[in-house]
Amino acid sequence: MSLAQNVLELARWAPSGDNSQPWRFRIVSEREFDVYGYDTRSHCVYDLDGWSSQLAHGMLLETISIAATRYGCRAHITLPEGDTPHLDLPGSEAPPLRYRVQLEPDAALPPDPLAAVIVERSVQRWPMRPQRLTDTQRASLEEAARPLRIAWFESWPARARIAWLCARNARIRMTIPEAYAVHRTVIAWHATTSEDRLPDASLGAGPMLLATMRSAMVSWQRLDRLNRWTGTLLPRLALDFLPGVLCSAQLAIVADWEPATLADRIAAGRAIQRVWLRATALGLQMQPQYTPLVFARYVRSHREFTQRPGAQAEAATIAASIDTALPGAAAANVAWLARIGPAQPVRGRSLRLPLAQLVVGDPPPKLPRLATV
Ligand SMILES: Cc1cc2nc3c(=O)[nH]c(=O)nc-3n(C[C@H](O)[C@H](O)[C@H](O)COP(=O)(O)O)c2cc1C
Repeated sequence: MSLAQNVLELARWAPSGDNSQPWRFRIVSEREFDVYGYDTRSHCVYDLDGWSSQLAHGMLLETISIAATRYGCRAHITLPEGDTPHLDLPGSEAPPLRYRVQLEPDAALPPDPLAAVIVERSVQRWPMRPQRLTDTQRASLEEAARPLRIAWFESWPARARIAWLCARNARIRMTIPEAYAVHRTVIAWHATTSEDRLPDASLGAGPMLLATMRSAMVSWQRLDRLNRWTGTLLPRLALDFLPGVLCSAQLAIVADWEPATLADRIAAGRAIQRVWLRATALGLQMQPQYTPLVFARYVRSHREFTQRPGAQAEAATIAASIDTALPGAAAANVAWLARIGPAQPVRGRSLRLPLAQLVVGDPPPKLPRLATV
């Protein structure tokens, strides 16, 4: 394998929303490659303006930089000129962004210790041990987040407030057809691993709840009917509130300004991945809770995200709760919301597409859409 391939073989383990891996690679030479960064805004309600994909691009680019040090190289990354290409035409996909990476050998560069945990880092959706973080752990995570900062919610009432916010937000996720359209394609049922989706074993649901989800999610009509008959409180308590309390802390990663440009979102993604890897190195696990931030931004920018009456108003209360939770830090500046803590090894794991499938030619192809399973 070439140097570029070695680095990408490791870096492809970067996280992405719903394991979408919105990137493909074009090897230019032994030491140079392009990352084509795609987004899923045309069909994923959570990828508003492609921002969550672009955050993932930042996480990938940070992972590339860290992985390169394992091969004695410094990665020089050039971002696309200008800002996000924005193709708003109905049904069209935004063209991929092109990030150019050049690997420069540097014999004096020590391997970044975070390279050792790139593959191990994984999302933990099950409850964690509610063990207080040490000052050293907190300081180490804050250092990894720079130039962004971390706002902590550690006491029981503070964790419970964010957990309840997430549980309220989950009602939106569970009851809008636009989210169902996403969930029915991204979950791999009866699976403990998946190369391009979330295996159901990773969702943090016990066997009874999983069986109910599986049978309800066969069609939107069925799911909607079940939601009306039984309500959504029990699954929201099991999947959002309880885990939200059973952790060491809830945290927000906050920038000094709203990540309004592509460069801001890349910088935020890079910081988030450093925090996630540092947490892994410290023996801690993390679960992002990104969707409240997305629904809040729909509200702030006065954009409708659903045909279900009432959901937009529910999102407005989520946005207000984020404002209240983060006094002093404008809620718009929050790049990441997550829970963190020590836990058992994960019980289901998203794998990645093989490198051979991620390497493409020029011009970049369209990102294949997942079929419904
Ligand atoms: C931008 C972004 C948003 C995400 N949002 C959530 C989320 O709201 N809830 C969640 O459980 N996981 C979330 N994830 C985690 C991904 O689902 C996860 O990283 C991906 O499936 C790959 O799995 P792994 O991290 O275990 O390797 C998010 C990841 C990214 C990069």
